[in-house]
Amino acid sequence: MAKPRTIYHCSACGAQFPQWAGQCGDCGAWNTLGEAVAAVKPATGRFAGFPGSSNVSVIQLSAVTPNAQKRHSTGMQELDRALGGGLVPGSVILIGGDPGIGKSTLLLQVMSTLSAAMPALYVTGEESPEQIAMRAERLGIAGDNVQLLSETSAEQIIATAYKEKPRVMVLDSIQTLYTEALQSAPGSVAQVRECAAQLVRFAKQSGTAMFLVGHVTKEGTLAGPRVLEHMVDTVLYFEGDPGDRFRILRATKNRFGAVNELGVFAMTETGLKEVSNPSAIFLSRHETAVPGSVVMVAWEGTRPMLIEVQALVDQSQFGNPRRVTLGLEQNRLSMLLAVLHRHGGLTLGDQDVFVNVVGGVRVSETAADLAVLLAVMSSFRDRPLPGDLVVFGEVGLSGELRPVPNGQERLREAAKHGFKQAIIPAANKPRQAVKGLEVTAANRLSEVLDKVVSEF
Ligand code: TYD
Ligand code: MG
Repeated sequence: MAKPRTIYHCSACGAQFPQWAGQCGDCGAWNTLGEAVAAVKPATGRFAGFPGSSNVSVIQLSAVTPNAQKRHSTGMQELDRALGGGLVPGSVILIGGDPGIGKSTLLLQVMSTLSAAMPALYVTGEESPEQIAMRAERLGIAGDNVQLLSETSAEQIIATAYKEKPRVMVLDSIQTLYTEALQSAPGSVAQVRECAAQLVRFAKQSGTAMFLVGHVTKEGTLAGPRVLEHMVDTVLYFEGDPGDRFRILRATKNRFGAVNELGVFAMTETGLKEVSNPSAIFLSRHETAVPGSVVMVAWEGTRPMLIEVQALVDQSQFGNPRRVTLGLEQNRLSMLLAVLHRHGGLTLGDQDVFVNVVGGVRVSETAADLAVLLAVMSSFRDRPLPGDLVVFGEVGLSGELRPVPNGQERLREAAKHGFKQAIIPAANKPRQAVKGLEVTAANRLSEVLDKVVSEF
């Protein structure tokens, strides 16, 4: 038999190399190569060619009956929503998030509910059983049906799972596990990859639903190889400021549901509670309108959400002015500032610009463009915009306002929360007026800026 070969994987792009190097030859990232075991090829001759006949048969797509997977409710509608309607047997779900955001808390609550209906196994590699018991006590969970296993060897965990036959399993966390097949330390790219691969194989073979907890690096990606995200069925990210009450659970990949669907929770004294009507929780509601703050209507999954964008524009002390974003894409800000200069005549070349989305939320929609630009402008002029104003719309490179999906629903949500004025792209202008909302629909950014300067 051929000797197992070691290969090296880039954790950023997944490229493979026969030798270790400091920089990935494919994507150029530094210090991302990690060791892994290469699959052993069957020993065939160089010119063995293709087998003459195959005993594997193909089937026609139309002949396959899609089995409507029976989903189990996790007892939390917001989590069910992020999962695409409940937990699918045999699916593997990766939950990522900052330390202390509430991953272990959520999973313990979920396991307590699910264990009433099916055998449940909670594997902890990070905390002792006593620590988990303390948390369960705090959450008011009896835990009669939840089995605990404190173990970090992937082989042991799988062997135990074969014996105990759980229908749902939690692994907290994947970074603490190790497999005997590899020499490297737990938490290294190779270990994480290999352990996850073994666990996924077990989940698929046995039909056990599995939650894998993954840590997030400072850069905001899951520590360990990107390939982890390819191996699992669903990737959920916990977002939010650990100091703040509210938490968002966002699906960034889902083989069994829509992506970008999200669930909203509040961290309380007794664990995570669902927030079933989250549309206005991230508004800070200033007493008086303040410069640099604009409310936008974002569309998250299938729901509108009112979100406050704040900007601070300040004279730069250094030659190289800073552009800093929290919750938004930085390159997009640079692009928008260029548009503002070119089509709005506002020069910010000597100004530091900071933009923040309130509440630790992340907005990836282009509908935030107009809100960002108006917040920047408001801060630059030190003039507040009216507190009852909402905006949304994408801004193009030629200074045009482009429509965004679900305009009508966004406006209705704003009206529901007492907003009186809206500035939106012309193509989003509602056919019927929205009651209580005065809508300004513009084709170009310059029209919006003229209105803002002359009226506010
Ligand atoms: P935890 O689930 O341990 O976070 P993670 O597993 O993502 O690292 O959450 C820990 C935080 O949650 C901790 O700061 C305390 C807080 N917390 C509450 O506020 N209420 C509670 O009922 C529990 C169990 C934790
Ligand atoms: Mg934890």
